[in-house]
Amino acid sequence: MAFAPISPLTVDGLSKFLSIGYHHLINQAIYTFAELGIADRLIHAPSDHGFTVQEIIGDDQPQWNRDLLYRILRACIYGGIVESIHDDKHFILTASGSMMTSDHPSHVRDFIRLVFGPISNSCSLQLPNMVRGEGTGSGIARVSGGMDMYTFMAQPDQQEFVRIFSGAMTTFSMQNGSELVTNVDFGRFKTMIDIGGNRGTFLAQILESYPSIQHGIVFDLPHVIDQFKNGEEFELRKIHKDKWNFVSGNVFDSSAIPLADAYVLKHILHNFDDSQCVKILSSIREANENQKGKSTTIFIIDHIILPGGSLSNWQTHALDVIMAILFENARERTQDEYKQLLKKAGFELKQMYPIQAPDSIIEAIVIH
Ligand SMILES: C[S@@+](CC[C@H](N)C(=O)[O-])C[C@H]1O[C@@H](n2cnc3c(N)ncnc32)[C@H](O)[C@@H]1O
Repeated sequence: MAFAPISPLTVDGLSKFLSIGYHHLINQAIYTFAELGIADRLIHAPSDHGFTVQEIIGDDQPQWNRDLLYRILRACIYGGIVESIHDDKHFILTASGSMMTSDHPSHVRDFIRLVFGPISNSCSLQLPNMVRGEGTGSGIARVSGGMDMYTFMAQPDQQEFVRIFSGAMTTFSMQNGSELVTNVDFGRFKTMIDIGGNRGTFLAQILESYPSIQHGIVFDLPHVIDQFKNGEEFELRKIHKDKWNFVSGNVFDSSAIPLADAYVLKHILHNFDDSQCVKILSSIREANENQKGKSTTIFIIDHIILPGGSLSNWQTHALDVIMAILFENARERTQDEYKQLLKKAGFELKQMYPIQAPDSIIEAIVIH
């Protein structure tokens, strides 16, 4: 498929703004495609024939608007999600489009539904008011009657949103997990805990790469553990049941945190303000206080703001905006900002791994 290279990120002048608009509309079509689960239907289309809109809809959704779905699919062609074959009436999935099925291990369908879905959208619309200083609280607090994001997700009617959010977290790990895992020697440790480890994707990637690690624990809030404790990500990688388990608890409560040689905090600290980050880090240190003669190592994995000109900074500053929207006083930070937080919590920054995947990694140990 040929179209002019008009990404708003790479062009200047009037074309930039029109491109922003056109991309937004293609994105709306891709969001609709994801929301309606069209890939789950199109995956069954014969590759030499494709499906017409009527065949996509089948008998189960006779009320769907055929003309509108056809127009959505035509727009999705330009997003590289579907192709038309033979004529402009038959569609097949592209390789990227086939990643949008509900059961694809990338969880890209969840990612798109999270990024463009109603919660992110309604929260994002609050941003101008937040800058103007009108009203108080993060975007999510403003649209949920004052709840923070993780309290909101713990509500019994938000289970589907938790599933979508968590799938989107897996997408990040599927994109860069192997790069992160191979740039640090995690094989030095016998036991590891992934704090806020969610579905367990990243811990499973670590255990798969370092069979010498004896045991790994996914630690997360009860409503998350309840959904994912069957360990699908570990099963997928054929990691023996004895090597992993899920533990529910609150990281702010040091007595709930199991002991380990090393702790991973991936995409955790950027969800919190400075004082909460210090509390989280201190909580991990306190949990290990009575471990005489043992050093505790932590790994902070986040989109770290690197010195000017670093390749990953555009993604980091983009993610920083959604942190500000979805979480109270949350932000991406520089290496030096993390160093200060670590020091306040009794840790020493030992090594920076500027991987830029776009995540980078900071290794720190408890100061004795
Ligand atoms: C942004 S997600 C990152 C998930 C995972 N680490 C990853 O990188 O894919 C943050 C995770 O922290 C968990 N979390 C938030 N507050 C927590 C708390 N107080 N105690 C334990 N886990 C928490 C959330 O439930 C969520 O799974």
